[in-house]
Amino acid sequence: MDIHLTSLLRFILSSSTILLLFLSCCWYKIEAHGEEMIEVEVNSFLPETTCMSSQKGSDYYRNKLQLVDKHGPCSPLGKKNLSIEEILLEDQLRVRSIHSMIGKQFSPRDYKAKIPTKAGYSLKTGNFIVNIGLGTPKKYFWVSIDTGSSLTWIRCQPCSNCSAPTFNPSKSSSYSSISCTSPDCSQLGSNKYNSPQCTNCMYQIHYADTDFSIGNFGREKLTLTSSDVVPSFQFGCGLRNSLGDSTSGLLGLGPKQVSLVSQTAAKFGKVFSYCFPRSASSTGYLAFGNQTGATSSGVKYTQMRALSRLPDNYFVLLMGISVNGQRLNISSSAFTDPGTIIDSGSLVTHLPRSAYNILRAAFQRAMSNYPSAPPTRTLDTCYNLSRNRTVNVPAITLHFEGGTDIQLDPFSGVLFKISAVQYCLAFAPNRDLVDQTIIGNLQQRTYEVIYDVPRGRLGFRAVGVNC
Ligand SMILES: *[C@@H]1O[C@H](CO)[C@@H](O)[C@H](O)[C@H]1NC(C)=O
Ligand SMILES: *[C@@H]1O[C@H](CO)[C@@H](O)[C@H](O)[C@H]1NC(C)=O
Ligand SMILES: *[C@@H]1O[C@H](CO)[C@@H](O)[C@H](O)[C@H]1NC(C)=O
Ligand SMILES: *[C@@H]1O[C@H](CO)[C@@H](O)[C@H](O)[C@H]1NC(C)=O
Ligand SMILES: *[C@@H]1O[C@H](CO)[C@@H](O)[C@H](O)[C@H]1NC(C)=O
Ligand SMILES: *[C@@H]1O[C@H](CO)[C@@H](O)[C@H](O)[C@H]1NC(C)=O
Repeated sequence: MDIHLTSLLRFILSSSTILLLFLSCCWYKIEAHGEEMIEVEVNSFLPETTCMSSQKGSDYYRNKLQLVDKHGPCSPLGKKNLSIEEILLEDQLRVRSIHSMIGKQFSPRDYKAKIPTKAGYSLKTGNFIVNIGLGTPKKYFWVSIDTGSSLTWIRCQPCSNCSAPTFNPSKSSSYSSISCTSPDCSQLGSNKYNSPQCTNCMYQIHYADTDFSIGNFGREKLTLTSSDVVPSFQFGCGLRNSLGDSTSGLLGLGPKQVSLVSQTAAKFGKVFSYCFPRSASSTGYLAFGNQTGATSSGVKYTQMRALSRLPDNYFVLLMGISVNGQRLNISSSAFTDPGTIIDSGSLVTHLPRSAYNILRAAFQRAMSNYPSAPPTRTLDTCYNLSRNRTVNVPAITLHFEGGTDIQLDPFSGVLFKISAVQYCLAFAPNRDLVDQTIIGNLQQRTYEVIYDVPRGRLGFRAVGVNC
């Protein structure tokens, strides 16, 4: 009897384990392969008027930097009230300047022809900002993060154009300058500023044709988190700056030797990750070193390359796109040579015109039951959902090299909310045939994106709505 009961119990236990295993396996499968349109309530596209980041525990950011949307309600810089049209214009300018920089690598003549000359154009350095500590005693500054440039710089005193909090090296006991003849100075390469009476190493960096920073290249104690301090970080102390926003500078995460990622290689192994939240009313994170730990089994990797020929960006290989599980008839060669840029600072993913047209046609077919709306800036495929309570958002999956399929978040990566009634496909076409494909940050949202530079791979881990 006892034996019978025990085995019965064991049977019940094991069958419920199997049931649980079955449920978890298949739930995962549904998640992973559910490339079907997703019905959502139109009003569940979040209102972006109040900051909800305080819902995360205080421990959440112990080893991470909190990432804040510069234009959103959580931004500490929120004086400037940019409309969505203005944000899309900034994005367009960034994409154009990336394309003109890449064009420069191919042909100097192209570069001159393509550089925007209209006064007021500037390279907007990304949508996401972090708070870093600098100096002893440390002061905190909000800076943009950028995987598309490598030099970190901060507005410094004495400055001729201080329009944001500025760092004062003379008030810090840990600042030191770098001499002109030091090898650390020569690694600046084309960013070296050759002043005639060269005593201290100077840098210069120009974004598109008006934003720039020029100043001293020095070393300082950089505090990323309470446990991660970089003692002798090389950075630009900007004396002459023109930056069209009220951030204090830029954190360079690009592939070059001068970047934070390279300078901290011994500590973090050239591994970093970020998560952009679905909505600007939440905050994400930027993390250095391998912090995936036990959760690393959920990471899907694709090949990532840093090209010496195009040293400012990280590249992946986009191979194709599916809409509602149907692979579009786009040749993978449309995206290749030399690859697709994965960018933290661009918003909208930009595709070659031919690929974009095929995606748009499939998307329009899937959305044919919704009335259209006028285009907005770079987004030309828009819908008026004022009379619809729900919307079936088509599933869009990006296929990367190595069989890495990333299904985009319906609320940010597929449909972009312009207003309470107007929603647009969150992709745009390139202007010129030679322009690179750029994966913007809308399409990376709700994933932790892991840059593993030494092993040449980029990982995606689904983390959910608010990172
Ligand atoms: C910002 O813009 C929104 C929408 O245009 C408006 O309702 C709000 O009052 C503006 N806020 C400020 C501080 O100007
Ligand atoms: C100061 O910065 C603003 C933008 O932030 C720019 O328009 C202006 O030209 C700059 N002035 C000087 C003297 O660099
Ligand atoms: C992080 O560590 C885990 C566990 O040791 C490992 O499986 C994973 O490959 C590592 N990831 C990176 C990006 O180094
Ligand atoms: C795919 O596109 C190519 C080139 O445009 C065309 O020749 C081919 O017929 C298309 N295939 C299908 C199945 O539509
Ligand atoms: C959306 O549709 C409504 C009702 O048909 C109309 O009143 C409104 O002007 C439209 N708005 C846009 C932006 O298309
Ligand atoms: C969305 O609303 C429009 C306008 O009322 C209507 O014509 C259309 O059928 C609706 N679409 C769906 C899928 O319900």
